[in-house]
Amino acid sequence: MDASRSFTVTTPRITFGPGSLGLVGDIARRLGMRRPLLVTDPHLAALPPVATVRRALEEAGLVVTLFDGVEVEPTDRSFEAAIRFAADGGFDGFVSVGGGSAMDTAKVADLYSSWPDSFLAYVNAPIGEGRNVPGPLKPHIACPTTCGTGSECTGIAVFDLLAMKAKTGIMSHRLVPHHAVVDPEVTASLPRTALACTALDTVCHALEAWTCRPVGERDLPPEPDLRPMTQGANPWSDLLALEPMRLVAGNLEAALADPPDMAARGRLLWAATLAGASFGNAGCHVPHALSYPVSGMVRGYRPPDYPPGPPLVPHGMAVILNAPPVYRLMGADAGPRLRAAAEALGADVRGVPEAGAGDLLADRLVALMRAAGVPNGLEAIGFSPVDVAALTEGALPQRRLLDNAPVEIDADVLDGLYRAAMRYW
Ligand SMILES: [Fe+2]
Repeated sequence: MDASRSFTVTTPRITFGPGSLGLVGDIARRLGMRRPLLVTDPHLAALPPVATVRRALEEAGLVVTLFDGVEVEPTDRSFEAAIRFAADGGFDGFVSVGGGSAMDTAKVADLYSSWPDSFLAYVNAPIGEGRNVPGPLKPHIACPTTCGTGSECTGIAVFDLLAMKAKTGIMSHRLVPHHAVVDPEVTASLPRTALACTALDTVCHALEAWTCRPVGERDLPPEPDLRPMTQGANPWSDLLALEPMRLVAGNLEAALADPPDMAARGRLLWAATLAGASFGNAGCHVPHALSYPVSGMVRGYRPPDYPPGPPLVPHGMAVILNAPPVYRLMGADAGPRLRAAAEALGADVRGVPEAGAGDLLADRLVALMRAAGVPNGLEAIGFSPVDVAALTEGALPQRRLLDNAPVEIDADVLDGLYRAAMRYW
């Protein structure tokens, strides 16, 4: 019997709703934690969500240790610091509070303190050895504070390998948190740009999961333990892809308004969790591959309402700025899917032929970018056509993502996509 078209679904338990961070202590105790490590970044460490979670854990009788050394774009250096801290402390579980950086750092600290090995052992090949995680990890409760990464639902941890200046990661279903606790109250203090960028990252997760190569069209082992969670589009990931697009398109402007509509912000957070469960079981493709060199090569840009610091392109901004040309390229072949996505994102699809669905979707993404107030293409964040060769060289090693695309992607195609992403209006 050929099982190559089978697919496997992995999700955490999910608790969603206002006030749910207060339940983390009880959840941790029932997962068997007595001495958890609370993982966050130095900025969040002083903010209410971390205080709420810490109090809930302590009220449940747990002995809490704080690790607030998470870097916002994690590196092997910051991952290794967390791994050392976790290995030395003898913790029996992990609770992460933050964006993807905090959740991914907790996943990796959990992995290497549970199954110690050289750092590159579990890192994706060819950069690392791509070894399978040998067994279960300690329990991990993930509490997202942004509306984008969906990392609470995925078995993926992404980081920069400093020596190679390359974005890579570790992937295993073992890395999926045991429980995601998603509390809309955390979105109250999210700055406007961070909210806009993470919401557009959500749109890209859902779109890429919806349009990636279907399961069965890639050469993957059928055994659930050996198959990557990024296995290609499947009925489960499809089910969870269009709803987040509808939710972001329908709530983004109200969530960004001043004062913000908190119910709209809550719906964006729910959209991020759904999209995480979708791409976490399907994979992303070209816009994410294109984004990594953009984030890595930034020279002078810093988003307007971010605190002072080094040049930075937020992840969601780097992804959405590269997305429209990808869907123009996919064009007619993926017509019905692109059309359904455009409709979910609020476009009027009446009378649009399938051959025009890619352009319709791309135009709709540009309209969302304008509504969200993100910069007008790569030029607006300091890149020019002179940079295209270096950007292309940076994206080519992202084979895991590029091979999940429904069309063949080579250096010439990447070159054209970056040129088309320079300016949109
Ligand atoms: Fe993303």
